[in-house]
Parts: sequence; structure tokens; C-alpha cells
Amino acid sequence: MFVLALPKGRLAEESINLLYKAKWISEKPNEKSKELAFLDPLGKLKILLVRAQDVPTYVEQSAADAGIVGWDVIREGSYDLVVPIALKIGECRLSLAAKSGFDLNKYQRKLRVATKYPHLAKEYFFTKGMSCEIIKLYGSIELAPLVGLSDCIVDLVETGETLRANGLKEYDTILNSTARFIVNRSSLYTKREEIIRFINDLGELDVS
Ligand code: PRP
Repeated sequence: MFVLALPKGRLAEESINLLYKAKWISEKPNEKSKELAFLDPLGKLKILLVRAQDVPTYVEQSAADAGIVGWDVIREGSYDLVVPIALKIGECRLSLAAKSGFDLNKYQRKLRVATKYPHLAKEYFFTKGMSCEIIKLYGSIELAPLVGLSDCIVDLVETGETLRANGLKEYDTILNSTARFIVNRSSLYTKREEIIRFINDLGELDVS
């Protein structure tokens, strides 16, 4: 049996649609179920539903043979994984955003940056020759500049609705991201056939 780790949330739905279309699963897990491990009736695949940031860890530590996760998550961490293909799902970008009137070049003091991505945010400001104070948050990042917790944010933008709803503007794109198929190093040898089939099946498909 092949074990696949998927991120809970938006990417889970797209990933499951992709697996269904590629006939890796014969039915979709019940969205309302609280079960975190799902064995498909075909018996080919076991799906683990974990937090996006934890998908690479499950795969690296051999709790799963492979996983699907955003490029943003892979770039933020440092993992020993094989990343053979990009998928046509999970398209989004990591952006610098702030209230209107924000000007990165006019800051006299250290910039306060709220983000779930401390590593990528630091790297971005470092390459601009700027030092910044990172305020690590775990969600609802867009709130930080509205309440004076930060001067700007580095966060994911997909439709842009959350930024608009909170009166924030996008000032720069830091990283373009799509989902990746990631593979455990030893599974690459022990489950070679399945992995090649996954790459062939998933690489070409989109969810439309
Ligand atoms: C993500 C991201 C933004 C939002 C962007 O948050 O951190 O807040 O989605 O999507 P949009 O451009 O389509 O509006 P998520 O929904 O994962 O929740 P979180 O803020 O609690 O992490």
C-alpha cells in the first residue's frame, strides 16, 4: 500500500479531485468526517490529512511515502526530500502587502513584518539590504497592520479577496507557488513503480 500525506484545507480538495480523476481513489473522503487517515476501498492508497507545514516532515520521516504540498512550504523549511514534479494545482503567491501609502524605501526604523514565513521574509529583506523584525504569527496575518502590530505582512495571496476585504495592497511578489509532489528518499527505491505512475498520472492533469 502507498501512503500519501495531503495538507488539510484548500489544497486537500484539489489534491483529492486530482487523485480521483487519475483513478488512484474510487471515492472521495467525506468532507465532514473528522478522521485523519483514509484508506481507499480500492486498497491502493492510504491518505493522511495533516497540516500543510507538517506534510514534508511526514514524508521525510517515512510516515508517508509521498505527499502533496505547496512550493512555499518546501522553500520555507529545509528538508531532505525528492521533489520530482510541479502540479497544476494550488497556484498562489507569497507577497509583501501593507496599507495603502506604504513605502518600503522610506522607513527610518526597523521594519516590523508579520508573517507565517519567517525564513522567506527574512531572506527577501536581506536581499534588499534591509533589516527587519519578524513577528511570527500562525494565521489571520492580514489583521496585524490594521491593529498596529506590524508595518507590513508577508503572506500568501490566492484570489486577493482577504487583502481587499481588509483594505491592504500588494506591493511585491516574493515567490510564485504551485503544489509539488514530494517523495521520501527510500520510497523512491522501494515503491518505484507507484511513484513513476504517480508522476505520469498527476503531472499532466489539472482539476478543471
Ligand atoms: C491564506 C493566506 C491568506 C489567504 C489568502 O490563509 O494566509 O490569509 O489564505 O487567500 P485569498 O487571496 O484567496 O483571500 P488561510 O485561509 O489558509 O487562513 P489563515 O490566515 O488562518 O492561515
